[in-house]
Amino acid sequence: MERNETNKRKDLMRRIFHQGTSRIKKILPIDTTLFLFQFFRHPNDIGSLTPSSAALANAMTRYIENDHPQTQEKYYLEAGAGTGAFTKAIIEKLGPNDHLDLIEINPKFCERLSKKYEHLKNVSIHVGSVLQWAPPYKYDAIVSSLPFNVFEAQFVLDIYEHYRKVIKPGGIVSYFEYMALPGIKKMFLKSSAREKLQKTLDATNRFEEEHEIRIDKVYANFPPACVHHCQFPKH
Ligand SMILES: C[S@@+](CC[C@H](N)C(=O)[O-])C[C@H]1O[C@@H](n2cnc3c(N)ncnc32)[C@H](O)[C@@H]1O
Repeated sequence: MERNETNKRKDLMRRIFHQGTSRIKKILPIDTTLFLFQFFRHPNDIGSLTPSSAALANAMTRYIENDHPQTQEKYYLEAGAGTGAFTKAIIEKLGPNDHLDLIEINPKFCERLSKKYEHLKNVSIHVGSVLQWAPPYKYDAIVSSLPFNVFEAQFVLDIYEHYRKVIKPGGIVSYFEYMALPGIKKMFLKSSAREKLQKTLDATNRFEEEHEIRIDKVYANFPPACVHHCQFPKH
């Protein structure tokens, strides 16, 4: 009897959940819905509830050149492409001989990226962690969306080191963080988690002290974000 009641309750919960999700799918754009659902499954990989805005894409792609001679070929890497919020802006700047590699750890996002971009011959989509990506060439610029502030400090340092290995001398990596969010998070975290976040922030601050050439503040994004453009040594 009790088991019957429990099953009925479970059934009811499942139906409410199903109705809720299908309503969300009808209201929101497909990329936003996919992002939201993937965020609840992998919050520590994704680090944000919705895809980034066009204004943030604009700032993040500042150093993707679109005025070089058409005979030249440039190589670009986008790490953590998600559903393609920045990809579209990068592709608009690609010349006929340029190449863009998209690296994304989430297979569902890669499926979405393939639907949108696999017909383009100068775009390649790779599923996996950026740390495992070993290209046979070096990049002119990297657009990185990895959510550094949810990672351990050592992991962030490993990523910087990896970027240094795969970028050309003088190449620029652009990445963003949400404004004010680390400060707000710190107020609510337990002391061990707060210390972990502080170590990560210290690691990114040290990197920025050495390499940062420009910051763009973007308020037209949820949440507002700060874009860091960092240049690796020219020699
Ligand atoms: C904040 S989201 C940004 C997505 C998209 N660029 C945007 O702005 O809407 C971070 C993305 O990085 C991906 N990601 C996290 N860790 C990764 C890793 N080690 N290698 C490749 N992608 C990763 C996540 O799956 C997620 O799609």
